[in-house]
Amino acid sequence: MNQQATQAITEDQGLRHVVRVVRGLPETDGAGVKLTRVIAQPALQQLDPFLLLDAFRSDHPDDYIAGFPPHPHRGFEAVTYLLAGRVRHSDNAGFEGVIEPGGVQWMTAGRGIIHSEMPEQAEGLLQGFQLWINLPAAHKMDPPGYQQYAAAAIPEELGLDGARVRVIAGRTMRGTRGPVAQPLTDPLFLDVELPAGGRFTESLPVGHNAFVYVIDGALEARDSDAGPVGITADHLAVLAPGDRVSLAAEQSGARFLLVAGRPLNEPVARGGPFVMNDQSEIRQAHADYAAGRF
Ligand code: FE2
Repeated sequence: MNQQATQAITEDQGLRHVVRVVRGLPETDGAGVKLTRVIAQPALQQLDPFLLLDAFRSDHPDDYIAGFPPHPHRGFEAVTYLLAGRVRHSDNAGFEGVIEPGGVQWMTAGRGIIHSEMPEQAEGLLQGFQLWINLPAAHKMDPPGYQQYAAAAIPEELGLDGARVRVIAGRTMRGTRGPVAQPLTDPLFLDVELPAGGRFTESLPVGHNAFVYVIDGALEARDSDAGPVGITADHLAVLAPGDRVSLAAEQSGARFLLVAGRPLNEPVARGGPFVMNDQSEIRQAHADYAAGRF
């Protein structure tokens, strides 16, 4: 490493560099929905407390029309954030609603729900994300609940360099607070649009795990040797520990998600739609579901 690079690292003390970049994989789930699996795939099984990230984006109804008919969940939270299209959600507790563009549904499955997630459209673009966030062992069997917000309830911040930041959860360094609150993992969930030539800086809790997922365009960040690393669309960058992140949109501008959360550091046992701490709890979840105890 040369002197210049050493100096750059010293200046960047606390800056979160990119540990690695992962490309989303094509996957089919639900009743035949085509999507891109970004977390919960061989290259990135999880990023504690984040268990899964799916990105879906298609204007071919065949890719999404089958939706996700009734299915159960237990032990974690499922966050649906839509950019385009409409998704109707209903569950066995009588909760029903439509998620619209720019809106979020933060569903806490807790001890169990059975729900369906179906496109409320027969044509046109459907684009959005589903992120699964783990719950600590002591709260996996809490009652289920929802935090659902339409686009108008999500504050937007206009930053330097023309950045437009939608704050869905957590609080930015400039003081904007998102409507979703979850003290168990203290998540930050931002949707950022950065024009070409713009730079975006945000502070992050030091111990949180964090990632950037590029939706459109390309970002430039620093790797662990302070060298440049590019992050292009459909790629996720895992960020090292630190107190802030700095990202530049060089050529094309970029739209991306910046997500961070406090790791739980607990064992993770997965069984399809259930995420618990050990296999006996997974077997119990299957038994409870089969016995109609959800
Ligand atoms: Fe679901």
